[in-house]
Amino acid sequence: MKDRAQQYHPATRLIHGRMKSEAWEYGHPLVPPISASTTFRLDSSRRGALGFQEYARTGEPDHHIYIYDRLREPNKEMLEEDLALVAGGEMAVTFASGMGAISAAFGVLLKAGEHLVAHRAMYGCTHSLIHNWLPRLNITATEIDLTDPDTLPAAVRPETRVVYFETPTNPTLEIIDMAAVVEQVAALNARRAPEERLYVVVDNTFATPYCQRPLAHGVDFVVHSLTKGLSGFGTDMGGVVIGPQTHHDVFLLYRKDFGGVLSPRSAWSIMTYGLPSLAVRLQRAQESALDVARYLAEHPAVARVVYPGLEEGRHFAVAQRQMRDYQGRFAPGIMIYFELQGATPEAQQQAGAQFINHLAEHAYTITLAVSLGNVRTLVEHPSSMTHAPIPLDAQAEMGIHPGGLRLSIGLEDAADLKRDLAAALAEAEPAYVGSMESGWWVLPQMNTAIAD
Ligand SMILES: Cc1ncc(COP(=O)(O)O)c(C=O)c1O
Repeated sequence: MKDRAQQYHPATRLIHGRMKSEAWEYGHPLVPPISASTTFRLDSSRRGALGFQEYARTGEPDHHIYIYDRLREPNKEMLEEDLALVAGGEMAVTFASGMGAISAAFGVLLKAGEHLVAHRAMYGCTHSLIHNWLPRLNITATEIDLTDPDTLPAAVRPETRVVYFETPTNPTLEIIDMAAVVEQVAALNARRAPEERLYVVVDNTFATPYCQRPLAHGVDFVVHSLTKGLSGFGTDMGGVVIGPQTHHDVFLLYRKDFGGVLSPRSAWSIMTYGLPSLAVRLQRAQESALDVARYLAEHPAVARVVYPGLEEGRHFAVAQRQMRDYQGRFAPGIMIYFELQGATPEAQQQAGAQFINHLAEHAYTITLAVSLGNVRTLVEHPSSMTHAPIPLDAQAEMGIHPGGLRLSIGLEDAADLKRDLAAALAEAEPAYVGSMESGWWVLPQMNTAIAD
């Protein structure tokens, strides 16, 4: 090979080089290498054809023929095996982001003319997906209050195929009783043909598989943003759908054609840093979260605190039942939602703005930034940030207060977090907050097109 290469022009040899090593194989490195190749050497036309033939065909013999990153590649597959394992699922398919995974779940499980039922409170972009994009495909949705699962049967239509919710919900941390929803859905499915069955899909991003494993409660599919607690360090975006093996191939085919693939570099990083540190990060942050939630609950400037671990919470009993770590201990997570005191909603909103502005300017341990599940503690204002795509009246219906604040607790010392919170709470006087007359990212021209 070396001698043959001598016959070629240096510019050509610059391109081809060696690019192969008999010395590099996957068996011995403790940390697997990162796959940096979008395409793979196929050796022969027969091997190429076989690779395509075997792709997304469970049951066919798998010769592990990699063809092209968007189809499959080793880093994503290693991560997917790990994710299926930690979530207690049969298979996992990763995507470029949490929204990529959620849109894939809807794309695979729903088609034109069908319908989904969702809990009314959810992440802003999921709301936007359901309200701005799915109707263009003639997929409609009904939103209900699934904290009362008895409301489900009345919302389900013959063409309903998916029941979708987050638990805990973003940002207000409502808890939905998964076993109760699954029971309602099982009763409805008992009267349906298999091809018309309803699937329960849960976004488990807030809890992470460390605190809660929805598949163990009978849920059909779980979706996650990997960008949050599962990656943990704020360096990678990703998403995953985990569920039964029956759907593995269709999710792979969907990903191949819609193209929202996770990069091998991010898969490697989540697999190498995120997952191995998940339990220890969550244990530590969760301890601080309970401490901070109690501190806030007792603070005179705070009107309301929601944290699944607070006994006085509306959904404490359900949270206690379903949020459990791998040892079976109550695992209420690392997210806190709270509202400040104020005589009117406007005054509360202004106090909130003053508070986060103080944190943004002065706090050492708390950063004003969206996202969550990070090693650093993050604070944000859902009404104008993560949930801005949702019009204000709809925000109110889903329980988002205009002054509500969301905290994601990180790995800092809890006493330091309370020190920074105390300083900002002391400053939480009503102040100018800017205009928040309507949801900022609603796409008016598209809504008109849909209405037409
Ligand atoms: C509950 C929840 N689901 C999904 C997403 C979307 O994840 P990503 O940003 O990775 O697309 C988010 C993002 O904040 C979220 O909070």
